[in-house]
Amino acid sequence: MIKDNNKKIWLCLAHMSEAGEEMKFIKEAFDSNWVVPLGPNVNGFEKDLEEFVNKTDKGGTPGKRVIALSAGTAAIHLALVALGVEAGDEVICQSFTFAASANPVVYQGATPVFVDSESGTWNMDPNLLEDAIKDRIAKGKKPKAIIPVYLYGMPAYVDEIMEIANHYEIPVLEDAAEGFGSRYRGQVVGTFGDYGVMSFNGNKMITTSGGGALICPDEEAAKRILFYATQAREPLPYYQHEHIGYNYRMSNICAGIGRGQMTIANDHIAHHVHVKDVYQKAFADIDGIDLHVAPEDYMEPNYWLNTITVDPDKFGMDYDQLRLILDAANIESRPLWKPMHMQPVYKDAPAYVNGVSEELFKKGLCLPSGPMVTDDDLVYIIDTIKKAKK
Ligand SMILES: Cc1ncc(COP(=O)(O)O)c(C=O)c1O
Repeated sequence: MIKDNNKKIWLCLAHMSEAGEEMKFIKEAFDSNWVVPLGPNVNGFEKDLEEFVNKTDKGGTPGKRVIALSAGTAAIHLALVALGVEAGDEVICQSFTFAASANPVVYQGATPVFVDSESGTWNMDPNLLEDAIKDRIAKGKKPKAIIPVYLYGMPAYVDEIMEIANHYEIPVLEDAAEGFGSRYRGQVVGTFGDYGVMSFNGNKMITTSGGGALICPDEEAAKRILFYATQAREPLPYYQHEHIGYNYRMSNICAGIGRGQMTIANDHIAHHVHVKDVYQKAFADIDGIDLHVAPEDYMEPNYWLNTITVDPDKFGMDYDQLRLILDAANIESRPLWKPMHMQPVYKDAPAYVNGVSEELFKKGLCLPSGPMVTDDDLVYIIDTIKKAKK
């Protein structure tokens, strides 16, 4: 198939509602002069998010509160502050992730201890997690928190991770920045641990242009997060500060985009799952291309970015040669995240590795998956991959 225009097919572009709901909420903010980092859109967006994360497929509710923030990275940082992570502490973090999962540990003067992934979900390996905890305790420091990540929207082995965390009494901060709306046993990820992180960056499942949120265990924790997110002002008529605070609140304009996006959030997820179905059918016939899908039926990923691994022996070229062919055909693809324990900036951090993420980094690619990717685009992408095979 020949592509009929010269447009680039991107991994995941922002996509606004057909009805223009985002502009409606932004206009309301302008008309009422709520052009500040608080207001009706911030409150409304938090309410929408709370409804979304507390809805389970099996009845009951996790009963979480949500605080809207300026970024997912800010959400991770504030959760670490709330969990009492301080200079000299250690925090266990999944190695196979984007740097934002680990960087806030360093903002606190603490050290990230990286744990590798297992090959089913590509997320934190529970066995290695336990080895790491035991070893850190034996070396004299019990980790202050555990940060598992739902990479590309794939749930982790949550039960196993939570069991270990509970056994050693270490809080869990779920990095669900890529896992908006992914479910594990019918419950939205980010609601299992003490805190859960959401990101609304421009390339995420829904966007506020830039933004994030922290899923909090209860009202008291939410109030504490709000306090730290708004410069830690004591409740006095003048400005009194007894703690170091941050300017991490979400703007009422960005929250307006978020409220509009919530009207189409489920459509976005359905689209990503549809893209996965199309890839899955097509790649079943291409030797050497493996699509990463949920290893268990109780895991429902949002398939934020659909990812493949390329076997050069079977496909006739490696993932990077394929990436260049896709690029020449105006199709964006991207290597999988380079594990944190391989990053120069983290070369001295302790790491418990098993080879899984290093292997994936050497053979994986993310493919276009967002709401702007049409069925015609998918035909063209698949056709390009088929033609590349040697
Ligand atoms: C796994 C992961 N964690 C954290 C973040 C940080 O989110 P933000 O960009 O909203 O700060 C991102 C995305 O950017 C991410 O992919």
